[in-house]
Amino acid sequence: MNKIIIAIDGFSSTGKSTVAKQLAKELNYIYVDTGAMYRAVTYFALENEFIGEDFFNEAALIDRLGDISITFKFNEAAGFAEVYLNGKNIEAEIRTLRVSKYVSPVATLSEVRRKLVEQQQLMGKDRGIVMDGRDIGTVVFPNAELKIFMTASAETRAKRRYKELLERGHNLSYEDVLENVTTRDHIDSTREDSPLVKAEDAIEIDNSDLTIDEQLNTLIEKANQII
Ligand code: C5P
Repeated sequence: MNKIIIAIDGFSSTGKSTVAKQLAKELNYIYVDTGAMYRAVTYFALENEFIGEDFFNEAALIDRLGDISITFKFNEAAGFAEVYLNGKNIEAEIRTLRVSKYVSPVATLSEVRRKLVEQQQLMGKDRGIVMDGRDIGTVVFPNAELKIFMTASAETRAKRRYKELLERGHNLSYEDVLENVTTRDHIDSTREDSPLVKAEDAIEIDNSDLTIDEQLNTLIEKANQII
């Protein structure tokens, strides 16, 4: 069977990773959450106090990029690969609003992008991969056989994200989540290096009114037409 690359891009909190994970499982493919990699670098910057309330020492972070090793390890119980920073599982730490707040500025840095894109391209060299992010179909794998661009209204996305964070025990307001989602969309879409744009050959899916199963079935159908 023909192994392909499936690139799933789109705005923050569109539920890309939920569907991407299930699609990968269905096809017996590897799933890579590239947002987790940018979040890991951001977590490193926060831990080392390169970023704070009103400062971002970009040079210090760039200088230490060589000390950052990001790996994924499959967790049987969770059913997906969790992210590790220098050998430490940081899956829970990177999902906080604190990391979400600083990740988009970190992701504007070309030095950071270059390092992560190189690793992402290596992960996909044997194909058979579902990767989600912002620049997968445009920069990481411009030749991906199947490209999806996910959208939904900002309110729909913030509501979903808010619910998810509450369920995980975070204490925050819906307004904070909406603000984070719209700010990240703006930074991600207007940055100079690899902005979030729909690849010309991507299939756009607005999932505001679609269930996860409906989205998954659409993607399986599209993938099977190529495989
Ligand atoms: O997908 P997730 O929301 O976890 O991504 C967090 C942030 O990482 C995004 O808002 C974006 O700034 C950055 N990102 C990126 N390129 C990717 C994946 C994520 O710039 N391929």
